[in-house]
Amino acid sequence: MKLKSLVSIDQCSEEDILRILDSAAVFEANPDRVLMEGKVAASLFFEPSTRTRLSFETAVNRLGGRVIGFQDASTTSSSKGETLKDTILMVSNYADLIIMRHYLEGAARYASEVAGVPVINAGDGANQHPSQTLLDLYSIHKTQGRLTDLTITIVGDLKYGRTVHSLIVGLSHFRPSFHFVAPDELRMPDEQKNFCDAQGIPYAEHTEFTEDIINCSDILYMTRVQRERFTDPEEYERVKNVCILKRSMIGRSRDNLRILHPLPRVNEIARDVDDSPKAYFIQQARNGVFIRQAIICDVLGINHLI
Ligand code: CP
Repeated sequence: MKLKSLVSIDQCSEEDILRILDSAAVFEANPDRVLMEGKVAASLFFEPSTRTRLSFETAVNRLGGRVIGFQDASTTSSSKGETLKDTILMVSNYADLIIMRHYLEGAARYASEVAGVPVINAGDGANQHPSQTLLDLYSIHKTQGRLTDLTITIVGDLKYGRTVHSLIVGLSHFRPSFHFVAPDELRMPDEQKNFCDAQGIPYAEHTEFTEDIINCSDILYMTRVQRERFTDPEEYERVKNVCILKRSMIGRSRDNLRILHPLPRVNEIARDVDDSPKAYFIQQARNGVFIRQAIICDVLGINHLI
């Protein structure tokens, strides 16, 4: 079954995920395919973005569609008090698809309920980032040759990191084992741990980021401490440098270990890690174009695989 909107990774079955990954592989082999001719995508970014916005817009361009939208909501009538509902109703008049990032959790779901066209959630607060999860799964599959039975270590801001929350759900179909590494203040929320418990997914929590944890991992998923979500700047200062990956820490890691990061990075991965063959975060971001081509085709009902 095709997706109508992509609001949360929870709505994707294993079959949906594998279909989108297969579709992305076809786009990776041949990215320039005119499948959206005459269609308009609205790119509504109420929060800053580099990769998500530009890779979605690249995806639309490579599919032969056109893009309207904004990257600074202060230039729109929302700054005059227009509601999100009215904004979405207006944009539904103009575009065939809405790609939206918003600072409020649940904004994408709400938009999908009022919009007359499909909505793709490009990140809503600390909640969900489903297109990031699909590109993470694509990257894991490309580097490991499989999605099943992997040990995934997730490091950094596990409290506010929406990519982390989505990734746990996305991987839950594939028998993962997790290590969660974070200072106490940023530990994984109960909601995600309860989800793992209910699914029978093993996990261990750590406050120290050690080589022993890295050495038993297939994927090391680093994340940025999300300064913009803190209400207390002093708390941010206390935790911002607790988990930093240094090159010396991966010397005895598994050959198949790959280091992922949704980016942007601040200083949680030292620059000398970049040259390691195990560093995969730049290629990971590139995969975002192919996966977003696949997602766009899925929600628009464009079957390019027949
Ligand atoms: N990974 C990610 O969402 O990056 P941007 O904030 O730059 O879009």
